[in-house]
Amino acid sequence: MKISASFLTSKNPAYDLKKLNDTDVDYIHVDIMDGKFVKNKTMPYREMKTIYKYTSKRLDVHLMVENPMKYIPLYAELNTEYLSFHVEADCDTERALRFIREYSIKAGLAISPNTPVSDLIPYLPYLDMVLVMGVEPGKGGQEFIEETADRIKELKGLFKEYHASIVINVDGGINESTAKMCQDADILTSGNYIISSNDFQEKISSLRG
Ligand code: DX5
Ligand code: ZN
Repeated sequence: MKISASFLTSKNPAYDLKKLNDTDVDYIHVDIMDGKFVKNKTMPYREMKTIYKYTSKRLDVHLMVENPMKYIPLYAELNTEYLSFHVEADCDTERALRFIREYSIKAGLAISPNTPVSDLIPYLPYLDMVLVMGVEPGKGGQEFIEETADRIKELKGLFKEYHASIVINVDGGINESTAKMCQDADILTSGNYIISSNDFQEKISSLRG
């Protein structure tokens, strides 16, 4: 199991990113919120882009924004492995996925808890990853919605049916016990569980199972 660490709830991102860089975490999950698609807003790009100073890990960027096309060129410039936006965003989804791939970056779609998994079907040919939300997007430290485990199984079934080879990343509410419910996933994104602890490596290892 690969682990992606979200620093959304960090009070000192520079310090925590440096500490995460000394662990064996696979990715840094970068949450971007525009104050429109979700209520909260993250720091502006000119601040966010300085992330390279604190981490050499590859980035798993999660755009919680209304207009992904505006953000894709910016975040494609960083050390990004996966770039995802929401299937619920009001945009030309296929075009935005193709746009991400033009930068030779892996394209992902995030899906919120109340959106039917079948909404992803038209986009399977353009997808490298699905980011399955375990909580409502918008803030860190929320409780995992247990039905997410069934949605992961449903997605797996869908990928099999359509012969698609797509990575499943689960985001939100992941801790040692909820990680056990997500064993069919490929990547687990965890924020508060890691960041609120004083031993990042121990928490990361506990998620790998
Ligand atoms: C929620 C974010 C998540 C979140 C994960 O809107 O997309 O990435 O920060 O953090 P925890 O593990 O605290 O739910
Ligand atoms: Zn996220």
